[in-house]
Amino acid sequence: MSYARALHCRKCGREYPVEARSLCESCLSPLDVSYDYQAMAKVVSRRKLAKQPLGMWRYKDLLPVSGAVVDIGTGSTPLVRADRLGGELGLDELYIKNDCLNPTYSFKDRPVSVAVTKAREFGFDTLACASTGNLAASVAAHAAKAKMKAYVFVPADVEPGKLVGAAIYNPVLVTVNGNYDDVNRLCARLVERYNWGFININLRPYYAEGSKTLSYEVVEQLGWRAPDCVVYPAASGLSFTRIWKGLEELAMLGLIEQPVNTHMYLTQAAGSSPIVNAFHSGSLHVNPVKPDTIAKSLAIGNPANGNYALMVVSQSGGGACAVTDEEILDGVKLLAQTEGIFAEPAGGVVIASLKKLAASGVIKKNELTVAFITGAGPRTQEIVSDIVHPFIVEPNLESFEKVVGVRV
Ligand SMILES: Cc1ncc(COP(=O)(O)O)c(C=O)c1O
Ligand SMILES: [Zn+2]
Repeated sequence: MSYARALHCRKCGREYPVEARSLCESCLSPLDVSYDYQAMAKVVSRRKLAKQPLGMWRYKDLLPVSGAVVDIGTGSTPLVRADRLGGELGLDELYIKNDCLNPTYSFKDRPVSVAVTKAREFGFDTLACASTGNLAASVAAHAAKAKMKAYVFVPADVEPGKLVGAAIYNPVLVTVNGNYDDVNRLCARLVERYNWGFININLRPYYAEGSKTLSYEVVEQLGWRAPDCVVYPAASGLSFTRIWKGLEELAMLGLIEQPVNTHMYLTQAAGSSPIVNAFHSGSLHVNPVKPDTIAKSLAIGNPANGNYALMVVSQSGGGACAVTDEEILDGVKLLAQTEGIFAEPAGGVVIASLKKLAASGVIKKNELTVAFITGAGPRTQEIVSDIVHPFIVEPNLESFEKVVGVRV
């Protein structure tokens, strides 16, 4: 059974039944799933969770679904102790949550699993989404698994690897001549016209909840302790807010100590940093920008959850940081060459920001810090193609020793 009680408007408090709806009719604010935490607390315990099978659905009691789930094998990704990277950055307690290792190579499989399960419960036979690339792949893969149709919409300049990464699951793939914000505007019109389950529009409250499993996993992997600092990349800002909600829920359920003392650091690419700009100007109001960055998965100029993300930053005593494309590339290489993890640019944003936050003393040496790597590198490999300089040899010893030699 599901402990989801209602959809709740954070701004005016109006409540709606658990249905396919994302905005409050009265004030147009985003809706959030609220739960009967008292009832949930009676069934959730560390001991009971420890007996659940691996994967994100071990936390099903904390998610808004009942019945059979659509599962492509998401979750229980490694939390790696990052000694080598930590050594470079001067951090003694650094961990990487490697969420590249989900079935479609990004964290998006978490929110999408919940949204698609819900779409099926609500009786939709067609899924759709507006995507910067990763979401399209995940929605298409889940549609294949659930035997549903999928329409996925991406900006025309999305990386070739992301197009193949979605097309392989055989959705209706639509590239839109415009940026993500244009794609989103088109989808907002389509949702009114077609009876489709738009993963990040009319199913958005459920989609949002899947990202909470990132916090649950990290806390359980740390032996039921919340990190001192979280460093996370933002596009719309939605999943950032859910990392926080996940931690608060664990505290509310008595699984970790109350209050939550985690500082939440939001990171963006300087070429698309509307939320970080607002943070630096001391405002909770986000002014849209026109994105221009290699971190295309994060290139949202008008982030739907920017305001809420800024509230989380402020409430948690955290911060926000933006980094240039050059710093992003260095971040991708640094992570690969210290920890053996090949991330896409969103990961470079996190590592480069972490480097700045550590160097400026904002994140301290002994603070237990978790950096979230949310998407894998191979689908965006053209951005680092400059690293390929092979030695070219003939297939004999002499040629090897002449051209390469033994390098000390
Ligand atoms: C790899 C990756 N990380 C992080 C994000 C941030 O997602 P959001 O802030 O919209 O929750 C995205 C969004 O597309 C992404 O693709
Ligand atoms: Zn409202």
